[in-house]
Amino acid sequence: MYENLLFEKRGNVALVTINRPEKLNALNDATITELEKVFTEIKTDDEIYVAIITGAGEKAFVAGADIKELNQMNVVSGEAMSVKGQKVFDQIENLGKPVIAAVNGYALGGGCELAMACHIRVASAKAKFGQPEVNLGIIPGYGGTQRLARLINPGRALEYILTGDMIDATEALQIGLVNHVYEPEELTDKAFELANKIASKGQIAVRMALKTVLATKETSQSEGQKLEAALFGVCIGSEDFKEGTSAFLEKRKPEFKNK
Ligand code: COA
Repeated sequence: MYENLLFEKRGNVALVTINRPEKLNALNDATITELEKVFTEIKTDDEIYVAIITGAGEKAFVAGADIKELNQMNVVSGEAMSVKGQKVFDQIENLGKPVIAAVNGYALGGGCELAMACHIRVASAKAKFGQPEVNLGIIPGYGGTQRLARLINPGRALEYILTGDMIDATEALQIGLVNHVYEPEELTDKAFELANKIASKGQIAVRMALKTVLATKETSQSEGQKLEAALFGVCIGSEDFKEGTSAFLEKRKPEFKNK
């Protein structure tokens, strides 16, 4: 169904694998279009609670936008390409369900930007992040200037963007770009472990928490707290809340129905 992606469901978790290993999973236009399609499918599939995105092969998560395509761009098509990529990555960030990036190798340029559009990043010890666009005479164009400077210290973000230097997995952990680093062979299992743990909770609470935390990017503390109170109320009105609190009092495991 997809030419450049693999898509599978394991229980309530979806796994999207960018599948152009011979080009280090570089994001050509067709792959960006397919990402838009697959995340629309994930959004509307009620059986999917959490998504994981990773790269095919041993070497790369995504080694960036496709430089062969970039080479042919002009001012107009370049801007359009950036807007399209930004839109798809915003779609991932605003999916309404948690998305985990399992970064299995190079996450450069658009690859680093894709990982940053996900809500949680876990990495293999072999992973290497970076925004090397300056080496090509361009700047990050899929949200990287904004997301990197918000995720980590802005001065450090600027240094990475201005030098194009790569960030190894140990450094990525130190600066908070990733939550965990695992041995390469463990990465997928660990990503599924995390995804399944989140999928085992009441999904109304998971989604309200996601929405509230993401709102910190755009709102003031006081507006954010208003949203928090409103969505806290939404959770209290759910059957899952009754089930969660009753299960605690009855000393049993809750059975959430996401209602
Ligand atoms: N776009 C298009 N093709 C890419 C690519 C990209 N971003 N990154 C790698 N490839 C292709 C290479 O051209 C090569 O194709 P070929 O076998 O047809 O020549 C293949 O993937 C393997 O890459 P190669 O460079 O031979 O692997 P390597 O192990 O020597 O180096 C990297 C790995 C990641 C350091 C190197 O590929 C690289 O610097 N890639 C570009 C990273 C980048 O600048 N990204 C930002 C783009 S905006």
